[in-house]
Amino acid sequence: NSGVAPVTYGEGERPPRGDYSRARDDYCCEQDWAAYTEAEHDLYRRLHARQSALLPGHACDAFVRALGRLGAPERIPRFDAVSDTLERSTGWRLVAVPGLIPEEAFFRLLAARRFPVTDWIRRPDEFDYIVEPDLFHDLFGHVPLLFDPVFADFMQAYGEGGLKAARLGACELLARLYWYTVEFGLIATPSGLRAYGAGLLSSGAELSYCVRSPQPRRVEFEPARMMRSRYRIDSVQPTYFVIRSFEQLFDACAPDFAPVYAAVRETMAREGEIEAGAGAPGDRAAGPFSLATSAA
Ligand code: PHE
Ligand code: FE
Repeated sequence: NSGVAPVTYGEGERPPRGDYSRARDDYCCEQDWAAYTEAEHDLYRRLHARQSALLPGHACDAFVRALGRLGAPERIPRFDAVSDTLERSTGWRLVAVPGLIPEEAFFRLLAARRFPVTDWIRRPDEFDYIVEPDLFHDLFGHVPLLFDPVFADFMQAYGEGGLKAARLGACELLARLYWYTVEFGLIATPSGLRAYGAGLLSSGAELSYCVRSPQPRRVEFEPARMMRSRYRIDSVQPTYFVIRSFEQLFDACAPDFAPVYAAVRETMAREGEIEAGAGAPGDRAAGPFSLATSAA
């Protein structure tokens, strides 16, 4: 017990739910697997079953192919067991954390190919929606794509880029890119649009919506456009960004972002941020729906 400070929270906000007294300096803790109750294992099983049934036609192939590597869907997996499989595949390991952690600690873990997974699972009354990431979101939503070699390298590069963004005071801009890709990204495939973002893949309501609904705006992926765009945390996304491949994602984020941050700041000083769901000049429609339809 190092007495690390939990993530800061503002006045009127709830403190994070996890037990941070068990965390080490790097915010990692032991996954106390024996402490999960039968009711918690059962909740995991039901979340897994509900979400798995929604995957066909909505989740990207790489995710569907790798999902089984999380192990038997009946019980909460042991992180060490998943890590042993994952490490042989792409060199990543999972580490247990009490919940959200400060961004620099998060970036340091990713840069070391360590993926933090919250060690507690939501309550049964949060089956359909939970505000904070829990074990189900982190594990089911994020971990399967860490078995994809290109996506795995992207996540490590993101961690390194985060440490650099912290030095440049650009974490807010980079966080938007994370939101619109790793959490809510869509990918165009020969069979149609598919979700690869973890916030979509772990969501009962948004997974089908993001692929099928004519309502949201769908724009071709462009890092600087994402960095200017605010986002909603309290509803389905009004705008999604669409990549064509994980290679495209990796390559577009490989260049030095220092000049990109500077250019984005300059544009925002002149023209402001782009509100969540708003269109922008130069947007290129992605997917089967036109921007005109979604601009209504
Ligand atoms: N290449 C980016 C930089 O120089 C870092 C980065 C990599 C950001 C991958 C996001 C994803 O800052
Ligand atoms: Fe997440």
